[in-house]
Amino acid sequence: MRIVSVVGARPQFVKLAPVAAACRAAGVEHVIVHTGQHYDALLSDVFFSALHIPEPDVQLGIGSGGHGEQTGAMLAALAPVLSAQDPDWVLVYGDTNSTLAAALAAVKLHLPVAHLEAGLRSFNRRMPEEHNRVLTDHAADLLLAPTEVAASHLAREGLAERTVVVGDVMTDVVHQVAANVADAGERLLGQLGVRAGEFSVATLHRAENTDDAARLAGIVAGLGAVDHPVLLLAHPRLRAKAGEHGVPLESGAVRVLDPLGYPDLVALVSRARGVITDSGGLQKEAFELRVPCTTVRTETEWVETVELGWNVLAGPGEIAAAATRERPEETDAAPYGDGHAAERVVEVLVNETGRTA
Ligand code: UD1
Repeated sequence: MRIVSVVGARPQFVKLAPVAAACRAAGVEHVIVHTGQHYDALLSDVFFSALHIPEPDVQLGIGSGGHGEQTGAMLAALAPVLSAQDPDWVLVYGDTNSTLAAALAAVKLHLPVAHLEAGLRSFNRRMPEEHNRVLTDHAADLLLAPTEVAASHLAREGLAERTVVVGDVMTDVVHQVAANVADAGERLLGQLGVRAGEFSVATLHRAENTDDAARLAGIVAGLGAVDHPVLLLAHPRLRAKAGEHGVPLESGAVRVLDPLGYPDLVALVSRARGVITDSGGLQKEAFELRVPCTTVRTETEWVETVELGWNVLAGPGEIAAAATRERPEETDAAPYGDGHAAERVVEVLVNETGRTA
């Protein structure tokens, strides 16, 4: 039994970590192919080392580019690699250009494809991630959904028979890491000169927020108006676009920092008063760590976090008020599973092998 995981962007490395560990524990051969979509050490290497993920077996080194150019280059480079590996499953993760390229490369070779984090929908057709996830779900043979809501989207699209709800693998990781970062948290707060519960952590990288100068300026003004320090962990795309648009990031409450490795991120977030973000993963991580989240988008795929009161959607002018709102009522709801999703993923892949041939 051989599984080939194809990954390329930061959130996929986090999802890969528990899957790689579960493959190892189950004695399943696991080959890791890195497309090279993210190549900066801070977006890639630090995740492999800190989360104890084996080095990629294959590095395609594709790098940045327009959507078509990047996706096409990955598709072309993946075909001979997948063909040579001839795996029982090609496992693709999430909703990036790497995900879609790998799903397409595999179906064209008649290799069985499983999509992890299937069924998420924003219903916003302007997002590249929405195209990637819808197309990947319809191409894949097996849809590993994180939640019942995700499974219901797949059912509505006629894909119920290929769907299994496994839980959310990012939830597996966040709790494992959170249990081991108490010391790192205190050290980080000391280095940054902030006190627990008195700062927010912000991230911003989505095209719809960074690529329009007026929208970006409005969001930065919103962050700057928060009444406590906002530590902005700046993705390279944010820095590049802010430079291009002439929007200074450091203003008012905002302090700009480099992106953090995963353990440091978890350590910092778990001590924050709140999170302000447009990232999908961070909305969920904040919820799992019970830190209130403000999401700078018009919709979210992780609707459970909003329904349970731990996440609010905010436009640029609403950020400052949202970031200082009262803490919501405590909850022990667990919409993202029990922290053992990755074991279930491997179990399902082993049990379903051959059925799609
Ligand atoms: C990608 C995913 C997005 C995911 C995000 C996580 C797509 C369509 N988008 O967005 O879903 O949430 O990753 O971070 O796949 N850059 C660097 N160094 C790098 C990588 C990128 O400097 O290692 C810069 C380049 O200027 C590049 C830009 O960031 O053009 C965008 O990178 P790209 O991988 O195209 O998309 P992300 O914005 O990271």
